[in-house]
Amino acid sequence: MKKIYIITGATSGIGKALCEYFAINNTVFAGYRNAEKLNELPAQAIPFFIDSNRPESIAQAAEFIKSKTDKIDTLINVSGCVVAGAMEHLPVDELRRQFEVNVFAHIDLSQRLLPILDGGKIINISSMSSFGIFPFIAPYGASKRALDIMFNALQLEIKKDIKVISIKPGAIATPLWEKSINENEKSFSTCTDYNKEIKFMVKNAKANGVKGLPVEKVVQTVIKADSAKNPRPSYTVGLDAKAAELISHLPQGILNKLIKFKLAQKAK
Ligand SMILES: NC(=O)c1ccc[n+]([C@@H]2O[C@H](COP(=O)([O-])OP(=O)(O)OC[C@H]3O[C@@H](n4cnc5c(N)ncnc54)[C@H](OP(=O)(O)O)[C@@H]3O)[C@@H](O)[C@H]2O)c1
Repeated sequence: MKKIYIITGATSGIGKALCEYFAINNTVFAGYRNAEKLNELPAQAIPFFIDSNRPESIAQAAEFIKSKTDKIDTLINVSGCVVAGAMEHLPVDELRRQFEVNVFAHIDLSQRLLPILDGGKIINISSMSSFGIFPFIAPYGASKRALDIMFNALQLEIKKDIKVISIKPGAIATPLWEKSINENEKSFSTCTDYNKEIKFMVKNAKANGVKGLPVEKVVQTVIKADSAKNPRPSYTVGLDAKAAELISHLPQGILNKLIKFKLAQKAK
């Protein structure tokens, strides 16, 4: 049966792959922020403008969707960015930007669409960073954790029949990694006292952008969660994500020693 999907961040990486898959047999509303990338969307998708840094665009996007349909089967919150750097130096405005894009925009759009989501699902693309074990990308990890906590609370509280699912991929080969290097260049240049660590982080990001798992792995997990009658609240994608989940259960003191040791080894 043809279903109705809303997918944000549909012009690149995971969102684009999800959009391509679901648009084959369904109605897909595809979120873009840059009109120059509209050609990345499948011809049959219905594009809508949404810029997570512009709250009025989120309200307009929700109104547009509601003017076209009175029911959504699945809302997939995909759009995201990475704010990275040393906590000692990161400007607080950068932390605000991180939460605006990765948390508040998703909550805003979801709240506005809840009235037409009864009987449906919300699938958030979180991250293994949500397990909170990665230094130098703390804003990103904190944003994903906040996303998971707030949407899990929504699941516990809500009286409508809506299933909330968090997908936590490990490293996936998408343009996100290259973007994260470019967008954080200024912050990196101010942490000269962390040169070795930042150099390692950049090298690692470059490698992940190429050697990460293919986007299809995330698409397969989303399909599994979306088609399940009783989906789990959380799915990890990739061995790295499973390992991150496992070690995040260690006592904080032991975990910190382990991470510091590993980082010192790798950032020589
Ligand atoms: N790649 C990974 O290893 C990985 C792992 C775990 C989780 N994730 C998560 O997966 C999601 C998708 O990331 P990806 O890897 O597919 O990266 P990507 O290729 O960079 O895609 C990110 C998407 O979000 C959009 N976006 C970014 N900032 C936005 C804003 N301010 N307003 C509206 N849209 C915005 C981008 O638009 P443009 O196309 O215009 O840039 C793009 O469509 C993110 O939430 C990310 O955190 C990724």
